[in-house]
Amino acid sequence: MKVLVSGGTGYIGSHTIVELLNNGHEVIAFDNFYNSKPEVLNRIKTITGKDIKFYKADMLKKDELEVIFNENEIDAVIHFAGLKAVGESCRKPILYYTNNICGTLNLISVMDKHNVRNIVFSSSATVYGETDTVPVDETMPVGHATNPYGETKIMQEFILSDLYKANNNWTVTLLRYFNPVGAHESGLIGEDPQNVPNNLTPYISQVAIGRLPHLNVFGNDYPTPDGTGVRDYIHVVDLAIGHIKALDASCGKKGVFIYNLGTGKGYSVLEMVHAFEKATGIKINYKITDRRAGDIAILYADTEKAKREIGFVAQRGIDEMCRDLWNWQKKNPHGFE
Ligand code: NAD
Ligand code: UFG
Repeated sequence: MKVLVSGGTGYIGSHTIVELLNNGHEVIAFDNFYNSKPEVLNRIKTITGKDIKFYKADMLKKDELEVIFNENEIDAVIHFAGLKAVGESCRKPILYYTNNICGTLNLISVMDKHNVRNIVFSSSATVYGETDTVPVDETMPVGHATNPYGETKIMQEFILSDLYKANNNWTVTLLRYFNPVGAHESGLIGEDPQNVPNNLTPYISQVAIGRLPHLNVFGNDYPTPDGTGVRDYIHVVDLAIGHIKALDASCGKKGVFIYNLGTGKGYSVLEMVHAFEKATGIKINYKITDRRAGDIAILYADTEKAKREIGFVAQRGIDEMCRDLWNWQKKNPHGFE
């Protein structure tokens, strides 16, 4: 298939492009480099030996999207482009709602105009809101997010679902990611936070490399076995493969399809710290601090539907996640720069 990847130089987009190319798909990608670097494109070429067609384009500029659709016969779109920092979204809600919602509206209106009606969307487990039932499955009601970023995911899910209600020729796949971590095993691509990381695993690896003095563990009084928060960490390469499975399954089908992408297993913050120490032999200094506002105690996926309907089962465990994260961090101590 000819697949357009929005946000293609970002963390998950770049890993997914590698898997698309490995699986014989043709890739066209765009990004505005708000949160990624052009160097990613060279790395993708080194890993795969294949070329993609790339556009520097902003989804807020409809004319830039028009050029892409005019110049290419696109079969499907995998839509990663968006802003994703929870804390920043609380400080800059207008930026987040504008970029994520208006950007998506532009993209789908250009798709519709060009009769491209197959979209795979990067959603998030955040749409389940502050649930205390685990594992969460796809039939559980979409809740209310605790921040504007999460609200944009919920709104985008509704907008995309309405496309099919209005026109039964749409194929909409909503992939609810749990916690993507790790990097490609080559160590050539990985997550490259532009500022102090918000998420646990890049924070741990920056402590290990000496860029940060210690990890703050946000609370050890949760109702979990060791008191720290439990999440479902999924290797980014498994996550990327999940997109290929979802895309393949979407061919010839019409409707709205929703899948959790996780491993179905939960690990605590301290378990992740210890797994990283075991994988690398490096001691991670940490301090227990107050809970972070908006965090929940425990969240992990029910993965049965993804297994049953698209044949997706994550293969990589936390040892591989930590090993590949550290390989990437060691080879690129300052990210892509
Ligand atoms: P990322 O920031 O690395 O990648 C997103 C890319 O989108 C970036 O390269 C950025 O420059 C680009 N972008 C942003 N606004 C754009 C615009 N207006 N026009 C063109 N490009 C634009 O993030 P990621 O971790 O790869 O996440 C990809 C998607 O998955 C996002 O939609 C994110 O919300 C979602 N998601 C991520 C996680 C996670 O923990 N990483 C979890 C759940 C969902
Ligand atoms: N944590 C720490 N210290 C840190 C960072 C995180 O103790 O410096 C803890 C958190 O309290 C939580 C766990 O590590 O218990 C994971 O936190 P992350 O920030 O890595 O991930 P979240 O589960 O909070 O959020 C992530 C993404 C969101 C997404 C959500 C649901 O950042 O975008 O998963 O999939 F919406």
